[in-house]
Amino acid sequence: MKNTVTPDFKHIGGKLLIWYGKNARDLPFRQTKDPYKIWICEIVFQQTRISQGLGHYTNFTERFPDVKTLAEADENEVLLYWKGLGYYSRAINVHKAAQQIMNDYDGIFPGEYEEILKLKGVGKYTAAAVSSICFNGKIPAVDGNFYRVLSRVFADDFDVSSSRAFNYFSDLAHLILPDNVGDFNQAMMDLGSEVCKPKNPLCGECPLNQDCIAFLTNKIYNFPVKTKKVKAEGLELKYYFVHRNGEFLIQQRKDDFIWKKLFEFPPQISDELLPFIKSVKTVHHKLTHKNLSIEIYNVEVDSEEAWNNFIAENDYMISDYESSHQKSFPKPLENYIGNYHTAYRIL
Ligand code: ADE
Repeated sequence: MKNTVTPDFKHIGGKLLIWYGKNARDLPFRQTKDPYKIWICEIVFQQTRISQGLGHYTNFTERFPDVKTLAEADENEVLLYWKGLGYYSRAINVHKAAQQIMNDYDGIFPGEYEEILKLKGVGKYTAAAVSSICFNGKIPAVDGNFYRVLSRVFADDFDVSSSRAFNYFSDLAHLILPDNVGDFNQAMMDLGSEVCKPKNPLCGECPLNQDCIAFLTNKIYNFPVKTKKVKAEGLELKYYFVHRNGEFLIQQRKDDFIWKKLFEFPPQISDELLPFIKSVKTVHHKLTHKNLSIEIYNVEVDSEEAWNNFIAENDYMISDYESSHQKSFPKPLENYIGNYHTAYRIL
């Protein structure tokens, strides 16, 4: 008869917790179980390295210490506090989600996984992290760290780029899940970023090395298996940096496509301004799924009349270097403003 006994892998989760007890990174958000703070931290650190985002996280939560303060804030101020973190749609979403909590949950952060999942911008990973860390929820917060650690431990060649990877690795995680899922999830994050790294993993220091089939069979670099690479598509943009006497024109982007609600330069100009084009610069910039090629025309308007006509015919705002700091621009445009300021100060 076939042996149908499932091997018990729970000791793996237990070992990880012991390791975490001794090696947990000392991070400011680990001193709290306030779901608001943990939620913000999970959103910030999903796409930003801890070392890079910690100062921003602290500033953000000092300015917006709770759901109510964030919900009542002006959207542009929220964007401003997100400056430097990139992926600004996250800022727009946390702002909307805070309003959702005020309206739908009387300002009390929901404690159930399914309810947390309903918040704007919250996916399965974030809902699992908040629910497990703050409310003792029993759901693994599966992300790329889980894919890497689990595929190595089990020498499992399931394709992590498959649409079924999330469910597959969630099931695998349940095999090793201890009772304290909040600590387990954070232990996986620490192990994945400090020890079981994509390149040069520190297998000698890993608490799971005697359980890790990839390590024991010397195949660590065979895992995780990833067949599909998401191809970034090319996109060409054109901007006109229309300026006169240190002032330049800007507008706020709409709530669609890339760079939602960020500020930008005019995407076109009138024929009257064409003679004022002094130079053009092409800058390249990568977004997650797009390779941008941006042409920025330097339009130095020395005619007051042409400047006034263009302003009268359009709906642009006037900015200068100093006041541009109070607004959020996409990184390449922010750099352009900085270079412009340096160049014109020297002239
Ligand atoms: N990255 C995202 N969330 C984290 C957390 N709670 N601990 C460590 N790293 C993280």
